[in-house]
Amino acid sequence: MKDMFKLDGKIAIVTGGAGGIGEALALGLGIHGATVVVSSRNQEAIDAVARKITDESGNEAIAITSDVTDEASMQNLVDRVVEKYGRIDILVNAMGMNIKHDAFDYPVEDWQKLFKVNVEGTMIACKAVGRVMRDQKGGAIVNLSSVRGIRGYTGGNSGYCATKGAVELITKALALEWAPHGIRVNALGPALVITPGTKHIAENPELAAKYAAAIPLGRIGMPEDMAGAVIYLVSDAAGFVSGQTIYVDGGLTAA
Ligand SMILES: NC(=O)c1ccc[n+]([C@@H]2O[C@H](COP(=O)([O-])OP(=O)(O)OC[C@H]3O[C@@H](n4cnc5c(N)ncnc54)[C@H](OP(=O)(O)O)[C@@H]3O)[C@@H](O)[C@H]2O)c1
Repeated sequence: MKDMFKLDGKIAIVTGGAGGIGEALALGLGIHGATVVVSSRNQEAIDAVARKITDESGNEAIAITSDVTDEASMQNLVDRVVEKYGRIDILVNAMGMNIKHDAFDYPVEDWQKLFKVNVEGTMIACKAVGRVMRDQKGGAIVNLSSVRGIRGYTGGNSGYCATKGAVELITKALALEWAPHGIRVNALGPALVITPGTKHIAENPELAAKYAAAIPLGRIGMPEDMAGAVIYLVSDAAGFVSGQTIYVDGGLTAA
């Protein structure tokens, strides 16, 4: 029981690891003992996060680029991590995007772009890392959903809601299919989180107050708020937890 949240000795990949949420998750994993491989398409951005993890945690962190929509690119990431460390214990898929359009005029090309990254990308990453976890007989995966994965939202979010609903069902399906291999698959469902992409909300007091008022706990989430649930889900403390989405949303989805 004493060390159930410790990640010492575990090898973790965080896709989207230089994103607003991904950086906090990668840092949280590193601080709690994991060796973190930070990944996205932008070498400079992931290098900076890897350096920050090493500086703040004293644990090794490296940066390897990958594109989750490209199977060869994901396989290259996985092969390089296995070559260096011999295993992959944790995968956190913190990549993702949103493209908003009124549903009457949603261009199919943008719908496809959204599904390519959020849905196909999640599956490609799970598949590439899942095969390593199968061969080593265990591992833990966390996919990024959203409160928009179980609730409908207006404001041009039909495509995004659809992709996050799909992420939640991929999570459940893989949890069942891969349980015999000791692989646990869960998801994180944040409400609005202030990141570089949403900081215009925090910077506008009226808008910020409107968003905060919709949250039972009365404030908007920050990236650091997301780390605890992910550390839990990939740790031994969650050894009997699979196929779940934890909504870190200030109580929003309780209603
Ligand atoms: N922020 C929120 O309010 C919020 C709320 C609920 C759920 N979420 C979900 O949480 C996740 C992270 O969101 P965020 O706000 O941190 O987003 P973000 O700051 O835009 O970060 C997204 C990350 O995904 C990476 N990425 C995008 N396309 C990629 C691809 N094809 N291959 C590899 N990496 C790719 C980006 O890096 P590169 O472009 O450099 O590759 C970036 O690191 C997303 O799934 C999002 O839907 C966010």
